[in-house]
Amino acid sequence: MPSRAFYLSTPIYYVNARPHIGHTYTTVVADVIARRRRALGEEVWFLTGTDEHGQKIERSAANAGTAPQQFTDQVSAEFRGLWDRMGLSYDDFIRTTEDRHKRGVAKLWNVLKERGFLYKGTYTGQYCVWDELYVEAGPGAPCPDCGRTTETVSEENYFFKLSAFENRLLTLYAEQPDFIQPETRRNEVLAFVRGGLRDLSVSRTSFKWGIPVPGDPSHVIYVWLDALANYITALGYGSDDESLFGKFWPAQLHVIGKEISRFHCVYWPAFLMAAGLPLPRAVVAHGWLLFEQSKMSKSRGNIVRAETILAVLGADALRYFLLREIVFGQDGSFSFDALVGRYNADLANGYGNLVSRTLAMIVKYCEGVVPDGASDPVIGDQAGMTIDAVAGEFQGLNFSKALEAAWAYITSVDGFLSANTPWKRPAHISEKDEAVWRSGILYTAAEAIRILTALVYPVIPEAAAKVWAQLGLGEIKQADLRHLSWGGLQPGTRLGALGPVFPRADKDAAERMQAMELENTKTAPAAKPDTNPQAPEAVPAPSDPVFASLNPALPQSPSIVLTPDQVPTGPLPLGVFEPGLQSFEDAALVGQIAAPAPIEMVSASEVLAGAGAPKPDALPQITIDDFMKVELRVAQILVAERVPKADKLLRLEVDLGYERRQILAGIAETYAPEALVGRKVVIVANLAPRKLRGLESNGMVVAASLGERGKPALAGFLDEVELGARLK
Ligand code: MSP
Repeated sequence: MPSRAFYLSTPIYYVNARPHIGHTYTTVVADVIARRRRALGEEVWFLTGTDEHGQKIERSAANAGTAPQQFTDQVSAEFRGLWDRMGLSYDDFIRTTEDRHKRGVAKLWNVLKERGFLYKGTYTGQYCVWDELYVEAGPGAPCPDCGRTTETVSEENYFFKLSAFENRLLTLYAEQPDFIQPETRRNEVLAFVRGGLRDLSVSRTSFKWGIPVPGDPSHVIYVWLDALANYITALGYGSDDESLFGKFWPAQLHVIGKEISRFHCVYWPAFLMAAGLPLPRAVVAHGWLLFEQSKMSKSRGNIVRAETILAVLGADALRYFLLREIVFGQDGSFSFDALVGRYNADLANGYGNLVSRTLAMIVKYCEGVVPDGASDPVIGDQAGMTIDAVAGEFQGLNFSKALEAAWAYITSVDGFLSANTPWKRPAHISEKDEAVWRSGILYTAAEAIRILTALVYPVIPEAAAKVWAQLGLGEIKQADLRHLSWGGLQPGTRLGALGPVFPRADKDAAERMQAMELENTKTAPAAKPDTNPQAPEAVPAPSDPVFASLNPALPQSPSIVLTPDQVPTGPLPLGVFEPGLQSFEDAALVGQIAAPAPIEMVSASEVLAGAGAPKPDALPQITIDDFMKVELRVAQILVAERVPKADKLLRLEVDLGYERRQILAGIAETYAPEALVGRKVVIVANLAPRKLRGLESNGMVVAASLGERGKPALAGFLDEVELGARLK
């Protein structure tokens, strides 16, 4: 009998882009949790779906030359089709364009209105269409989250009294410290709320693609209020039948990516409090999947599709890789080489090989029937410890560690087989005792495989189902983790038909997948990217107005390749590295501080001596007005420390006299952090904030770029200078 109701959700995905493995990552994590919970006897409801309203989708549809409904039908079906092909075990898939959702949102609106939390006012301010986010900043300011240029909105809107919830939210975070996980996200949210909450505009009038405000249809409901409500509308909130809502709400867990913590941990609980509804138990935010060192996203053009991996290695390979390779909560990198490496080492040579050699021996020596033998006490004890370790790590959402524990056990069982050589009777075993001796070894290995298979089933369900059937245990659904203990495999069980579980990937597998992705990028995508000329993800350096005015000769296309004469060889004004790289920070992240090979660079000693150096090619002239757009200021380094897993990056905290801020600089190979503290440097103070390795960088430290490898030399002063002084 199922014991408890466990409701969990993924974010609902925007349909402006086709699914990529970043979306897959979240959905797989939720699927793993759902499967494990079911195996623990809980009654699980697992929700996913698509977010289909708002200005961003309306524009994407217009760019694709398609009506919004047709556009969203098409992309939503792609998401759902992919989840089905991957065997993701969702119980419901909600679309925000469905009637059931619209009805529920209208009810929520009415409840908020009746309870006095909505009022009409005028909003004049900035809006980031990409993030569908109101931004407190001046006209033309960049979005603090994504760096894209915000648009000025001046509309009569409905407002939600968010400010009334500041204290209640702070009390919630204090009383329920695990409401937001992990700790880093909690700190961010706390800082945001402690900074003060302003009322939130929750309707728009300047476009149409949304749910109309009940009784005032010239307004559409703000897309985040619309979207967040999916978690209750999918359970029937606002319909004639609210039985699922009664049974499963509040959710135990919302699984999200870290960039949408504020919406889920501030706005969503505030909406629910205002409506008098119970709050979800917890929100857990994972990190980003990086590809080629930056967040995988459509607009960067660095996406990898799950389809490619499914076609070559299968869904379990991707699931295993995502959970084993990425430390949950932190950013992690994807590469085809790493995927194939993990697949061969852990799945083909590890688990797959253990299964096939053990079961083949049972066929050969025991006529395909699990033998009755005395099991090895050490392997038996280790099984118990592994069950406990995996349970503990899963509970803490440390998937990577859970899998490490399971694979340590595989290594141990493998070692046990190799040490006991059941295929070759040792001299001290008499011929008479041979069958008993071998039965003990093979029973031990088969039972270890049963335990392992039940443990890893949530992560690699397809393979686990195969192995379960090969062990003669029928359908894996019967794997009940509540009663998993050593000795459960019945001697006399006849094995099922054997077959390969994880065939070894050939050495070209990574290249083939890369080629498939390349081919896919060339063929037109179904969902055309938005046109957002300011989007830094799309064209980082040249689209920046400051950068462009300094380098008007640079091409504006995302696929630019600088020819040698376009690459300046002297000190770099705002940094000209590889196309798309803006600074030492960017260059450090991709490990490309060196200039392209054919260009002759000035060596450090030549620069210092001032002799023999070829004159750098001049950049096009700029006016003083152009120069004045760059805010160069004196700052003092107060804190300098290395950024974990980024060899070239330092995290600096600098004092500008009037403010303290964090900057990331790609100078770790040249400067020891301790040598920098106290040093006065020049920074670009008005550079739009950017995230590197998940940390926000607010500005850029100016340095000369020396020699072929572009070694940085920080700009500084011989004179005494005041903090914050402007360079002009
Ligand atoms: N529609 C909103 C969510 C509304 S929920 C009420 C949205 N959609 S999204 O399509 O942009 O998807 C966001 C989610 O997709 C992220 O929170 C994350 O779960 C997942 N990811 C998208 N790109 C990702 C990576 N590169 N890496 C990891 N997860 C990523 O925001």
